[in-house]
Amino acid sequence: MGMEVVADQGLVLLGCGKMGSAMLAGWLNGGLPPVSVWVIDPNPSDWVMGSGVHVNAPLPERPAIVLIAVKPQMMGDALPSLVKLGGGGTLFVSVAAGTSIATYEEILGAGTPIIRAMPNTPAAIGLGITALIGNGVATGTDVDLAELLLSAVGQTVRLDDEAEMDAVTGVSGSGPAYVFHLIETLAAAGEAQGLAPDLAMTLARATVAGAGVLAEQAEESPAQLRVNVTSPNGTTQAALEVLMDESDGFPALMMRAVAAATDRSKELSRD
Ligand SMILES: NC(=O)c1ccc[n+]([C@@H]2O[C@H](COP(=O)([O-])OP(=O)(O)OC[C@H]3O[C@@H](n4cnc5c(N)ncnc54)[C@H](OP(=O)(O)O)[C@@H]3O)[C@@H](O)[C@H]2O)c1
Repeated sequence: MGMEVVADQGLVLLGCGKMGSAMLAGWLNGGLPPVSVWVIDPNPSDWVMGSGVHVNAPLPERPAIVLIAVKPQMMGDALPSLVKLGGGGTLFVSVAAGTSIATYEEILGAGTPIIRAMPNTPAAIGLGITALIGNGVATGTDVDLAELLLSAVGQTVRLDDEAEMDAVTGVSGSGPAYVFHLIETLAAAGEAQGLAPDLAMTLARATVAGAGVLAEQAEESPAQLRVNVTSPNGTTQAALEVLMDESDGFPALMMRAVAAATDRSKELSRD
């Protein structure tokens, strides 16, 4: 089963903001006919209005998929209109951070196949990574289909246990912001060494982007790539001795940062 079933039976996209639009653009570029998509959104963008999809129109009887991309706090308003599609026959896929599978089962009925997914912002340019996990009712085919849909905005990984979702949020979900902050602080440090602000920012941004692509494409591990550019007693080694300090360097700092995000994710999903 692939995109044909989605094209035949239809896909309902609940919430078409940043993440919803990024996914929709990926599906349409991949050949999904716009007439197979039903978007529900109170303020659809001009792009959505002009894309040829159904917008706030009556829904098909039994769509293949409902994809939920509203903010978690809008869920209470948005979901009840879709309860009649619960109970089996339509696969629900949610990208909402912090909303558990159990919450969906309560609202939609325990017989509903549900996939919970966690994407990240580089999805906007097709370079996201999305972790996903299904409930007990979701079949292997359901997970395959959800993975196919989410691969429109980047890579995908499958989890074994929903409990991993909090740590995933702490690493890849919130992670892009850590990297943006790395760029900011690298540029500020360049300024402190006498570079003009624009020049420092250009160097920092291109360095992080280039190193990111190299780490992604290289055969070697990131650790090996680091060793490869660290000559004994050279400039890189001087910096790494500071950054890799066990008590107040990157390792300890990153450990605390990811733990804080993971803990916050746990708290939010309890609310
Ligand atoms: N952006 C990311 O990188 C990212 C990463 C991981 C997970 N997520 C998850 O993806 C979800 C969407 O995030 P986003 O960044 O795309 O947010 P967003 O841009 O605010 O998109 C949400 C969309 O849903 C619409 N909406 C509000 N109430 C609705 C309702 N009752 N029925 C239907 N649509 C409704 C909003 O319309 P209005 O603007 O008019 O309110 C908006 O267009 C969130 O649950 C978030 O946790 C996002």
